[in-house]
Amino acid sequence: MKMHDNPTIALVGPGAIGATVAASLHEAGRTPALFGRTAHDHLDVRFDGGQIRVPGPVQTNPACIETTFDLVFVAVKTTQIEAASTWLSALCGEKTVICVLQNGVEQKSQFATYVPQHRVLPSVVWFPAQREADASVWLRGKPRLTLPDTRAAQTVVTALRGTRCSVDVTEDFISIAWRKLLQNAVAGLMVLTGRRAGMYSRSDRTPVARVSKGMH
Ligand SMILES: NC(=O)c1ccc[n+]([C@@H]2O[C@H](COP(=O)([O-])OP(=O)(O)OC[C@H]3O[C@@H](n4cnc5c(N)ncnc54)[C@H](OP(=O)(O)O)[C@@H]3O)[C@@H](O)[C@H]2O)c1
Repeated sequence: MKMHDNPTIALVGPGAIGATVAASLHEAGRTPALFGRTAHDHLDVRFDGGQIRVPGPVQTNPACIETTFDLVFVAVKTTQIEAASTWLSALCGEKTVICVLQNGVEQKSQFATYVPQHRVLPSVVWFPAQREADASVWLRGKPRLTLPDTRAAQTVVTALRGTRCSVDVTEDFISIAWRKLLQNAVAGLMVLTGRRAGMYSRSDRTPVARVSKGMH
């Protein structure tokens, strides 16, 4: 059997995005091992029409890890990479695919201090999810990832096949990652001003949004 036919899967950072991917895997009978900063017995992800409970525990001590995994999803925030890096040494072997579930275009370089860049598989995360006060997650859209079209990506495609989280691959990953980043930048103006999308219909704001989204 080839390694990526039935990969062993770990997930570091079981927050809004990480718990959603974990729930998608669990629903398909491929429950990942969970590693995080805060201990939980399980994870709950709710969405329109249902809820998935992912059995834990969320393990919090890298020193207790005794095995490496074929595929490690990393879904900590960018500011948490350094603190989370001890998990990478504990969970990754020479052939582990490290799929980074983060916004941005610099995933490979941001992890370069901790793992060889060629082992890092960046992704574009398309779905909105948020954590609730009780640490459960509210999934607010259809889970979808885009990955660069590489051999390592096939491990993720295989792991998530037939799950509620769809995966597509592209030969022009960097353009798509930039597009998503610029969409976030435009949306950030709403957060900063406390306004809704209608703000972009004002004639002095529309051009800013269009340039940011590459539509000029
Ligand atoms: N949320 C969205 O809608 C969305 C959409 C697209 C892209 N993204 C991107 O996805 C990434 C993750 O965002 P998120 O919203 O899922 O963040 P989040 O809900 O805050 O999740 C981060 C998770 O990482 C854990 N963590 C923090 N430090 C850690 C450490 N040292 N070791 C292990 N785990 C650690 C956190 O644990 P605690 O429980 O202790 O905090 C939490 O479970 C970000 O880059 C974000 O930009 C998010």
